[in-house]
Amino acid sequence: MRVGILTGGGDCPGLNAVIRGVVRKGERHYGDEILGFRDGWRGVMDGEYDLLTVNGCRGILPRGGTIIGTSRISPYMFSDGVDRVKKTFAKLELDALVAVGGEGTLSCTNEIFREGLPVVGVPKTIDNDIGITEKTFGFDTAVSIATEAIDRLHTTAESHNRVMVVEVMGRHVGHIATWAGLAGGATMTLIPEEPFDIDQVCDALTRRHTKGRYASIVVVAEGAKPKAGSLTIKEDSYDEYGHIRLGGIGNLVAREIESRTGYETRVTILGYTQRGGSPTAFDRVLSSRYGVAAIDAVHDEAWGEMVALVAEEMIRVPIADAVAELKFVNKNLWKTAQEFFA
Ligand code: F6P
Repeated sequence: MRVGILTGGGDCPGLNAVIRGVVRKGERHYGDEILGFRDGWRGVMDGEYDLLTVNGCRGILPRGGTIIGTSRISPYMFSDGVDRVKKTFAKLELDALVAVGGEGTLSCTNEIFREGLPVVGVPKTIDNDIGITEKTFGFDTAVSIATEAIDRLHTTAESHNRVMVVEVMGRHVGHIATWAGLAGGATMTLIPEEPFDIDQVCDALTRRHTKGRYASIVVVAEGAKPKAGSLTIKEDSYDEYGHIRLGGIGNLVAREIESRTGYETRVTILGYTQRGGSPTAFDRVLSSRYGVAAIDAVHDEAWGEMVALVAEEMIRVPIADAVAELKFVNKNLWKTAQEFFA
C-alpha cells in the first residue's frame, strides 16, 4: 500500500517514535511505501512529502520533535482545502493516511473521514486530554520534566524562604499539574477543572508558614481559572483551531500571593521545555506501540478509527467518540493530590 503520515498540532516527545513504528512495520512486514507529509495537513493540501524508509528513520527513536514537521493548519481553513486533500490522494495514489495529532487534528481527521477518505488516527498531546485512551504519548515526558523542575525549585525556595509558583501546560485539563504536583510534593496545585479561590490559597499558605514552614511550591496549570468574580484575568487569544492561547495565570497568582500574604514569591513558567527534547522510556514504548497499531489498523481498513491504550492493550475506537469530550483529571486522583496540600 501507499500510506501517508502526518503530524499535526503542537509537537510532542514521541512523534518520531510513532513515525518509526509505522515505517518499520509498514515497510518490513507489509511492504508498504510510506510518505511523510510536511507540516501536518499543510503538506497534504500541497502534496509535499518525504519518502520515509527504515534506513532513513535510523536514530529517530530518542529524538524530540517531529522529523516531518507540524502545524496547526487545517484544510477547513481554506475554501478549497478539502478538494486539495482529495486531489493529493488521487494524484499520489494514496491508499491511506495516518494522522497523528491532538483534539484539533483528530477532529479534522474525522471530518476528512466523513468526506470518504481512508484515514486512521493516533492520539498525541502532552496534555493527556484525549478521550477514551488512558494515556497519550508525551504526557509522561512532560510530567518528568515538570517534576524535575519542582525538585530543583524546592531547594532554592527553602534557601530563600520563598513561595515558588510553577506554571505548567494544560489549557483545558490539569493532568500535568496534578501528576507533577503530586510527584514533586507541591504545597498546592491549581487546575482548570477546579476553579480556585485566591483567598483560600493565601489562607492555606499563611497557615503553613505560621506553622514554621517558610517555603512553598504552588503548581498552576496554564488553564487554571479563579472562581467567578474573585480575580480578573487578562483577555485570552485564540489559535487557528480556535484553541485558547494562554500564559499568564502563573504571574497573576504569584502577584496576588505576594501582595496578600507578604511572602516573597517568584514564578517559573516551564512552557515549551515540557514539549521539547527526548521522550522518556515510557513514551518511547507507548509511541512505538501506537505506530505499529496504526499501520495494522490501515491494513485492516479501520477507517475513521483511532488507536487507543485501554487496560494496557492497544484497541481501536471511532475518532468521533474519542474527540466527543475531553478527558479530565480523575476525581479520586485529585482527592489524593489534595491530601498533600499545604
Ligand atoms: O496541546 C499541547 C499544548 O502544549 C498545550 O498544553 C499548550 O497550551 C499548547 O499546546 C501551546 O500551543 P502552541 O504551540 O500553539 O503555542
